[in-house]
Amino acid sequence: MFSFPKQTYVERRERLSQAMGSGLLLFLGNGVASMNYPDNNYIFRQDSTFLYLFGLDYENLAAIIDVDNNKTIVFGDELTIDDIVWTGVQPTIREKAAAVGVTETRPMSELQKYIDAAKAQKQQVHFVPPYRGHTKLWLQELLGKEAQPSLELIYELADMRNHKSAEEIEQIELSVNVSRQMHLRALELVRPGMTEKQIAAAVAEVCYREGYYFSFPTICTNHGETLHNHGYIHELKDGDLLLLDAGAENDSHYAGDLTTTMPVGKDYTARQKEVYNILIDTYRKAAASIRPGITYRECHVNAWANIAEGLKGLGLMKGDPMEAAEAGAVAMFMPHGLGHMMGLDVHDMENYGEVHVGYPRGAEKDKRFGFASLRLARTLEPGFVFTCEPGIYFIPDLIDQWRAAGKFTEFINYDKLEAWKDFGGMRNEEDYLVTPEGHRHLGENKPCEVEQILEAKK
Ligand code: GLY
Ligand code: MN
Ligand code: MN
Repeated sequence: MFSFPKQTYVERRERLSQAMGSGLLLFLGNGVASMNYPDNNYIFRQDSTFLYLFGLDYENLAAIIDVDNNKTIVFGDELTIDDIVWTGVQPTIREKAAAVGVTETRPMSELQKYIDAAKAQKQQVHFVPPYRGHTKLWLQELLGKEAQPSLELIYELADMRNHKSAEEIEQIELSVNVSRQMHLRALELVRPGMTEKQIAAAVAEVCYREGYYFSFPTICTNHGETLHNHGYIHELKDGDLLLLDAGAENDSHYAGDLTTTMPVGKDYTARQKEVYNILIDTYRKAAASIRPGITYRECHVNAWANIAEGLKGLGLMKGDPMEAAEAGAVAMFMPHGLGHMMGLDVHDMENYGEVHVGYPRGAEKDKRFGFASLRLARTLEPGFVFTCEPGIYFIPDLIDQWRAAGKFTEFINYDKLEAWKDFGGMRNEEDYLVTPEGHRHLGENKPCEVEQILEAKK
């Protein structure tokens, strides 16, 4: 079981307490979630906020940081002999808590009492929005249906977690490197006649063999234009593209997230190569622009403009590329954002609200199609870790809908686009750290240029 040295968690909690100044901070860990019968569970995954502050990768725990009374308490129940028979022995709650610098523990039945006493004292109870339905219900039980997440706690935690420490970056890089091995395996294996299932299975084998788990469900498809395509139902033919978006998380639970778009056969077709070279040029320029002080919105819009310029060269777009980008017209070809924060969650802290993590405090999101999918838009700061993942897609239903609605006819050449509806989609995704000087690419180089991809396929 992974944990950072005890001091890491002590310092994180102290920093958070100081930043908050007062109140009672409540953190609920995850239990196991049942697939069907009670003991048939999804793999246990601890809540990331809980992991960040307490590092305890065990089920059914809760914790309180009582800033007003300078107390930190872990709540949980010891295993019964029945539990031990089925799941084996574990350290006691006291031993678990002590390992991460918490000296006070209480049984779970004390949690409600502690909260009720705090509320009677008019202490303010702070919590962040949970990912899971079960935790939402538990919060309602503990605090009442009207209880609302604390924006103050969200902002303080997002600020801490957005700035990765050296020990966090080390963990992320381990996961990125195993993610890379997953991609190398797919490149080595893919050929006409194989199925999406077979490649996805081989990718999973690398992940499991290394003792890692997925940071999200693998996307492995010759229909990359469907952004979250998890079906694995297609057979791969010569002339197809295979889009693999796969990432690992190790036992620290920090994520990697990479995408490669490879030809199924020996080479990309001429048409695929033209679009792929626009994509990689866009990726290179976007990655090169990562530095403190630039906003990721600017990087995103520049990437859109670069795609527009490339597609203009193919006769699919027209007009001024930057105007097309600012207008949102390039969302036709790249309807998602350039990237997202990455850490303990692959889309880090999305439960806090994207706008509270990837945008400046108090900002609102641009709700226009395409812009609304930009999870990270804020000014970049050293310590931020995120993905750079431009894509180019030809989505037949979107083409038809925009064409019928007469959208952006000044920028999109619909007549020419008709012949491209069977193209599919492509994306290249890699992971970056912002440094004081600029940026650092995380992990070893993953093939992305045409020659590198073809070499890796040999
Ligand atoms: N793997 C999902 C994403 O790239 O954001
Ligand atoms: Mn991503
Ligand atoms: Mn991805």
